[in-house]
Amino acid sequence: MAVLKKSTFMNSNRLDLHNIYKNFGNVKALKNVSMSTNSGQINCILGDNGAGKSTLVNIISGVFQQDEGDYKINDEIVSFSSPMEAMNAGISTVYQNLAIIPIMNIYRNFFLGQEPTKKGFFKTFDKEFATRTTIEQLEKFDIKIENPKRAAGTLSGGERQILAIARALYFGAKILILDEPTSALGVKESNKVVNQIISLKNQNINVILISHNIEQAYMLSDKFFIIKNGDMIDQFEKNQTSVNDLRKILGK
Ligand SMILES: Nc1ncnc2c1ncn2[C@@H]1O[C@H](COP(=O)(O)OP(=O)(O)OP(=O)(O)O)[C@@H](O)[C@H]1O
Ligand SMILES: [Mg+2]
Repeated sequence: MAVLKKSTFMNSNRLDLHNIYKNFGNVKALKNVSMSTNSGQINCILGDNGAGKSTLVNIISGVFQQDEGDYKINDEIVSFSSPMEAMNAGISTVYQNLAIIPIMNIYRNFFLGQEPTKKGFFKTFDKEFATRTTIEQLEKFDIKIENPKRAAGTLSGGERQILAIARALYFGAKILILDEPTSALGVKESNKVVNQIISLKNQNINVILISHNIEQAYMLSDKFFIIKNGDMIDQFEKNQTSVNDLRKILGK
């Protein structure tokens, strides 16, 4: 099966899942799930605890493989045997809690696992490049950092989420999965992150969002995928639904 290279991504970064099944022993976590998402869109997966949302994004991001069904990117069947393979193909996930290592400084966090090295016989970490790039990339997301040597733990919750998003984009993410990006944040911090998520649409990113917050999800998203007990029970474009409709379907 083909493994995509980032160069496969053109202007459109379309993701298609067809008739996906995933079992964990006797638990049928996903049953015949199909969905399509495209670039420049925010695509929201909604569902109760245990519905199958994480299982679905774990398949997309290479943590698990489906038992049955096809996973395609730009009409090409793909199979990722690890999150690293998916990441190399331009598919990144920002997890709510694992995004940042607080005691490490900001620029080290930005380049975590992909450290730039200076040219020369000894490959030493290029601090100057890392510092400059971190400042530049965060500025694109309206975060001004004067001293990227300070610990990432001193960033606000929203700034940490945005750092993780900026990092994913810098390293070539075209399909970006956000798992509950604002659930641990206060209103002000949450708004900061929401504004930056909206800005991803202009950068032609295919955003896949998991959320429990129906109002916020409705405001942010273009497309809604509703999962219940492993079934994709409904799919809507924004103009086909409302906050109240979504509430009713989800029983909230
Ligand atoms: N690795 C695993 N082994 C066994 N069962 C699992 C595993 N991962 C998920 N499950 C089960 O699959 C079902 C779907 O779980 P999943 O984590 O996808 O739900 P979720 O929609 O993300 O829920 P939440 O909103 O609580 O995060 C649940 O019944 C869960 O217990
Ligand atoms: Mg989950």
